[in-house]
Amino acid sequence: MDMAKKPVTAIILGAGHRAMAYADFSLAHPDLLKIVGVADLDEYRRKMVQEKFGFSEEFCFESAEALAKAPKFADAVINGTMDEQHVETSIPLLEKGYDMLLEKPFAVNDEEMERLLEVVKKHNNKVMICHVLRYTPFYSTIKEKLISGAIGEVINIQTVENVSYHHLSTSFVRGKWGNSKKCHTSMLLAKCCHDMDIMMWLMSPNKPVTVSSVGSKLQFKEENAPENSGTRCLVDCPRVDFCRYSAKRIYLDHPDRWEVYVWRDLESIENPTDEDRRKVLIEGDYGRCMYKCDNDVVDHQSVLVNFSNGATGTHNMTGGSAEPLRTIRIIGTKGEIYGEFENKFINVKIINPDPGKDYDEEYIDLSNVSSEGHSGGDERLTSDFVRFIRGEEHSVSCTSIYDSVAGHKVIFLADESMNKNGEQIKVEL
Ligand SMILES: NC(=O)c1ccc[n+]([C@@H]2O[C@H](COP(=O)([O-])OP(=O)(O)OC[C@H]3O[C@@H](n4cnc5c(N)ncnc54)[C@H](O)[C@@H]3O)[C@@H](O)[C@H]2O)c1
Repeated sequence: MDMAKKPVTAIILGAGHRAMAYADFSLAHPDLLKIVGVADLDEYRRKMVQEKFGFSEEFCFESAEALAKAPKFADAVINGTMDEQHVETSIPLLEKGYDMLLEKPFAVNDEEMERLLEVVKKHNNKVMICHVLRYTPFYSTIKEKLISGAIGEVINIQTVENVSYHHLSTSFVRGKWGNSKKCHTSMLLAKCCHDMDIMMWLMSPNKPVTVSSVGSKLQFKEENAPENSGTRCLVDCPRVDFCRYSAKRIYLDHPDRWEVYVWRDLESIENPTDEDRRKVLIEGDYGRCMYKCDNDVVDHQSVLVNFSNGATGTHNMTGGSAEPLRTIRIIGTKGEIYGEFENKFINVKIINPDPGKDYDEEYIDLSNVSSEGHSGGDERLTSDFVRFIRGEEHSVSCTSIYDSVAGHKVIFLADESMNKNGEQIKVEL
């Protein structure tokens, strides 16, 4: 990278924990990225960004709409608003000529996706989607193995995501992605946008041709509620000290767990106390009984994809597991790859029929990769975004909006298939 070049300038739109994870890159690399403005509905967050990055009041905006009305003053926008706001907030800024780092999912349905793509094509913006997992050593090593031809042509790819019981509680039952009418996303779109993107990326240049899917909400519905359960764990439930899903046990007893979501209302308090947290659970969404929430998304779903070369892929998403775990198995004509993301290893086995052998094995130990920031994916993605904006050579992981279409499309169709009892649906790209 040409260090003599000026840093890419960017405005934070939606200063939640995601946008800030990318913005923080500029503190360590001021020569590459400079944050020069903010737009957020929340005054506390606006001030926090302004103070952190040191720019004047005139570069703070009360909304994306207000930012779009001002003259363009940066190269790019880092859009970390919520899923259903991505398209509405992005379009006026793209029309203004900003390039963009846009959180996933970049659209919540097919119609929105087409609308956004049309604007990007018309204005020729550089738009990169935050598929951070592509940037982890785990998935980029697997991609490089496939590119090297080590296991030959892929016959089948199996991806699995087990969503832990406390993650399921936080995001898909009690939290922001529990009710599809409010958040406008399905669990597959919100949670496995990355996994389907990874599958499409690893299988490319082969394209998905059909998709089918089944799934349901199995566990957390009122008819499954224990007989004597209350409606709020810390208010009226006699099971508060022993229920597996007690908000006291999941959150109060683990105050650092999912803090950006659960304690969002305490963000402006410097040292929140146990009493502050207790109040949040007594009054707010995260203290509701898991069986008596307004969640309508599935808790498990399976997807089957056919690819243009005849290969197949499956993705199994299951919420409520004891531990969070992503696994991947890829079987090719010359060998196979198996890996466990959280357990930080990849095993490659290459067919070898020599006497005394079945296969040759390579164990790739990734145990020294830190788990922070999506295993370093956040940082590598931001650094690649700078190269992408500058028109420099970017990495094999780079995910422009065009590269992200197949994964999103497969998810929209998988949900449609699930709602039609698993009907096989053609993918048209
Ligand atoms: N890449 C990943 O691995 C990953 C992980 C988690 C979440 N996400 C995605 O990141 C996105 C952000 O999640 P979050 O939890 O940081 O969100 P958040 O709710 O904490 O932050 C969103 C911010 O956007 C602001 N906002 C909303 N509408 C606005 C408008 N019109 N103008 C200006 N500001 C506006 C809100 O005030 C809020 O501060 C979501 O789309 C989520 O799905 C991605």
